[in-house]
Amino acid sequence: MNCSPKFPVKWVKFMVMILSIASTGIAAGRTDIPRLSPTRGIIMEDPDLLSSAAVSDDFQTFYYPQTLDHFNYQPQSNATFQQRYVMNFKYWGGANNSAPILAYLGAESHLNVSLTSIGFLNDNAVSFNALLVYIEHRYYGISIPFGSREEAFKNASTLGYFNSAQAIADYAEIIMHIKNELRAFYSPVIVVGGSYGGMLASWLRLKYPHVALGALASSAPILYFDKITPSGAYYSVVTKDFREASESCYQTIRNSWSVIDKIASQPNGLSNLSTIFKTCKPLNKSSELKIALKNMYASAAQYDRPPRYPVTVICGGIDGANEKQDILSKIFAGVVAYRGNCSCYINPSTNDSSCPPTNDSEIVGWRWQTCSEMVIPIGIGNGTMFQPAPFNLTSFVQHCKTIFGVTSRPHWVTSYYGGHDIKLILQRFGSNIIFSNGLRDPYSPGGVLENISESILAVKTVNGSHCLDLYAQNASDPDWLVKQRQTEVEIIRGWIAQYYADLKAILFKQ
Ligand SMILES: *[C@@H]1O[C@H](CO)[C@@H](O)[C@H](O)[C@H]1NC(C)=O
Ligand SMILES: *[C@@H]1O[C@H](CO)[C@@H](O)[C@H](O)[C@H]1NC(C)=O
Ligand SMILES: *[C@@H]1O[C@H](CO)[C@@H](O)[C@H](O)[C@H]1NC(C)=O
Ligand SMILES: *[C@@H]1O[C@H](CO)[C@@H](O)[C@H](O)[C@H]1NC(C)=O
Ligand SMILES: *[C@@H]1O[C@H](CO)[C@@H](O)[C@H](O)[C@H]1NC(C)=O
Ligand SMILES: *[C@@H]1O[C@H](CO)[C@@H](O)[C@H](O)[C@H]1NC(C)=O
Ligand SMILES: *[C@@H]1O[C@H](CO)[C@@H](O)[C@H](O)[C@H]1NC(C)=O
Ligand SMILES: *[C@@H]1O[C@H](CO)[C@@H](O)[C@H](O)[C@H]1NC(C)=O
Ligand SMILES: *[C@@H]1O[C@H](CO)[C@@H](O)[C@H](O)[C@H]1NC(C)=O
Ligand SMILES: *[C@@H]1O[C@H](CO)[C@@H](O)[C@H](O)[C@H]1NC(C)=O
Ligand SMILES: *[C@@H]1O[C@H](CO)[C@@H](O)[C@H](O)[C@H]1NC(C)=O
Ligand SMILES: *[C@@H]1O[C@H](CO)[C@@H](O)[C@H](O)[C@H]1NC(C)=O
Repeated sequence: MNCSPKFPVKWVKFMVMILSIASTGIAAGRTDIPRLSPTRGIIMEDPDLLSSAAVSDDFQTFYYPQTLDHFNYQPQSNATFQQRYVMNFKYWGGANNSAPILAYLGAESHLNVSLTSIGFLNDNAVSFNALLVYIEHRYYGISIPFGSREEAFKNASTLGYFNSAQAIADYAEIIMHIKNELRAFYSPVIVVGGSYGGMLASWLRLKYPHVALGALASSAPILYFDKITPSGAYYSVVTKDFREASESCYQTIRNSWSVIDKIASQPNGLSNLSTIFKTCKPLNKSSELKIALKNMYASAAQYDRPPRYPVTVICGGIDGANEKQDILSKIFAGVVAYRGNCSCYINPSTNDSSCPPTNDSEIVGWRWQTCSEMVIPIGIGNGTMFQPAPFNLTSFVQHCKTIFGVTSRPHWVTSYYGGHDIKLILQRFGSNIIFSNGLRDPYSPGGVLENISESILAVKTVNGSHCLDLYAQNASDPDWLVKQRQTEVEIIRGWIAQYYADLKAILFKQ
């Protein structure tokens, strides 16, 4: 990994603004829910992907005049914005054959990176004779209402249209629009999504069965709401991943926090820590360092994917350090192994061109979503390699109120989509959903891990991480990943075959 991507100046100004919003939460650690995102791991490994527009000519971009508010009739709801979607017709069998449509539902990021990295659609387009569609989520990338990002993110009046129900309705409307335009009325649609986008895919299938025949929901933690999943599950899996990679690495990390606290409490301790970790700006609080390290371990576990396996990389650095080195120098060796040779590390300054932070400008949008309805209660329990930090809903809600001026609705997701007693509820309702998970993904405890019915299925791998099955096939893919994708494709093929049989029986009987 290299540390010198170049960022344009106009973007730097924007980063400063969003970092100041983001850091109010990070400093307190109170709204610090790990990012979901199917593509973040890829961007961290290869920041250049963000600016590369190397999408093949087969992809054609379209804009749909989307309704701002699908759910009421006030005059302002009638406003529209341009929502981006991209299509690839190269492999499509055509409307006359009712050939299938694979539709990727964008998650909390710019669509560009997904076009090149979500290989599942492209890799299977030929065998399905499928039309490929990729739709960008409202308020992300360039699908921004109110004319500009600044206006759209101004306050709760404009952010109020930014929620999952509106996003799913957007997707339904665009898919219907495409089918109408192409006169592909009987083409079955399979929606595909990863992470938050995977939740949207499964919910779209349940709410709009006439729009999508089936859904592939990869690493979708639809059960990480309310108290369905224990709040400590996420960091327990992070810990397990590190411990499996290396017992001594796990022990070193576990012992490091109290050493940081001890040094921080001494006179000049913070400047001592700043030196040890080569921070870009002096540390003001030891929590700045601890949160940066915690986030690094969490991301490495979430995106612990072949061939690099970042958890192994970090542990290689920690374990590879000289035996005689003190514990924090070992931890720092892990940071360097992960990040590469930068001129400085923690507390990056946005105008430091030698090693700028990844362009995570979309984090403001995700922060709004987690503060409003996507309240994923993640805390740190006892018995992990981290210091305990239970999730505190009261302080979470208070903090969100100070950032956005709105009161969180932590129970809305389970009211609107369900989640409690999922097997009891869905075993006789709904069909054609694959919930795929890799059990090394810290979000996987919030996923559906057991088969619910004949066609609401869990396809999981012991060694997988976040959204691995959606990435493009690669010669170096391990067998279990190849097999997981094959299983998914066979299940989808079965749905489509059944649909064609039904279509023939019902439509052409008269
Ligand atoms: C996204 O892709 C489009 C079309 O290829 C390109 O024009 C645009 O510059 C890209 N945006 C970013 C931020 O890379
Ligand atoms: C960073 O993200 C913003 C918002 O999506 C985008 O406008 C900008 O072009 C991105 N910068 C780079 C270097 O990709
Ligand atoms: C809604 O939009 C349509 C088409 O632009 C327009 O004719 C109509 O007056 C609008 N209605 C309201 C209530 O603004
Ligand atoms: C599809 O069917 C229609 C009506 O039968 C016909 O006019 C049209 O040429 C067909 N299109 C293709 C691409 O075969
Ligand atoms: C948002 O800003 C607009 C214009 O500045 C203002 O009219 C509106 O009352 C504000 N809304 C909230 C919820 O603060
Ligand atoms: C940091 O503290 C250690 C002892 O705790 C000391 O040996 C070392 O010199 C200090 N380093 C700096 C840069 O202050
Ligand atoms: C530390 O505090 C100083 C003074 O308040 C501020 O200028 C600086 O930006 C802070 N550093 C960080 C990393 O937040
Ligand atoms: C970092 O620098 C060291 C020494 O200069 C070198 O041995 C190492 O390979 C470099 N690591 C990376 C990831 O470039
Ligand atoms: C970065 O920005 C800060 C504040 O805007 C400024 O004080 C500092 O000199 C800048 N650093 C560089 C390397 O340009
Ligand atoms: C964690 O340990 C503390 C102190 O021993 C105890 O008070 C607390 O109840 C424990 N929490 C859990 C979830 O076991
Ligand atoms: C949760 O946070 C609130 C508000 O900051 C605080 O009053 C309360 O004591 C906290 N609860 C626990 C269990 O720490
Ligand atoms: C669920 O059923 C599918 C299809 O039969 C199978 O491939 C998968 O392994 C099952 N999942 C679990 C968790 O048993």
